Amino acid sequence: MSITTLNNQMPLFDSEWGATEFETRDLRTLFGKYPTGVAIVATRTAEGRNVGLTINSFASLSLEPPLVLWSLVNHSPNLSVFRDCEYFTISILSCDHQELALRFASSRVENKFQGISVQETPEGIPSIGGAIVTLVCANHQQTHLGDHLLVIGEVKRIASIEGKPLVFHGGMFTGLHDIHGI
Ligand SMILES: Cc1cc2nc3c(=O)[nH]c(=O)nc-3n(C[C@H](O)[C@H](O)[C@H](O)COP(=O)(O)O)c2cc1C
Repeated sequence: MSITTLNNQMPLFDSEWGATEFETRDLRTLFGKYPTGVAIVATRTAEGRNVGLTINSFASLSLEPPLVLWSLVNHSPNLSVFRDCEYFTISILSCDHQELALRFASSRVENKFQGISVQETPEGIPSIGGAIVTLVCANHQQTHLGDHLLVIGEVKRIASIEGKPLVFHGGMFTGLHDIHGI
């Protein structure tokens, strides 16, 4: 199946009502049309090594109890780190953090935390300085689902500063734009 578009707006499928057979890359394109914020999830290993990566799978899950979720790809070199950690932080990035988002999305950077503003939480976990929201989460529950590990955290500490979020949409970083008249 291939997805064609009319004026880049109306998706047309080969069949009458969508497609039941599709390529992973087509699904990825469709998932990418849902705009998300961008966050860095971070923790510290028992040996004291800081570990972190850029995610856009973050979502709120429950208010009472306070739960959030994110997912980590199964082939991540840090799968066991996040599976075994006691706490992790979620730093929601501001629109000025595009470079940081790219840095933490690269496995080639040896020490992602070197030379950047890092704040250590009272639990001893690194978080990103200047993040518009910081959540310290206890590692609550995890489930392997499909090609990702679904991680659920219980929010234990919250902090926030003023700022506009970084947005990920259509495979690109962008920002929020005011809709005229709203
Ligand atoms: C905007 C954006 C969102 C991402 N979201 C996720 C995610 O939710 N889960 C994930 O496992 N990887 C995600 N990635 C990919 C990781 O950031 C990337 O694989 C990173 O290199 C992992 O670092 P590591 O190899 O040091 O573990 C995302 C990348 C970008 C640019």
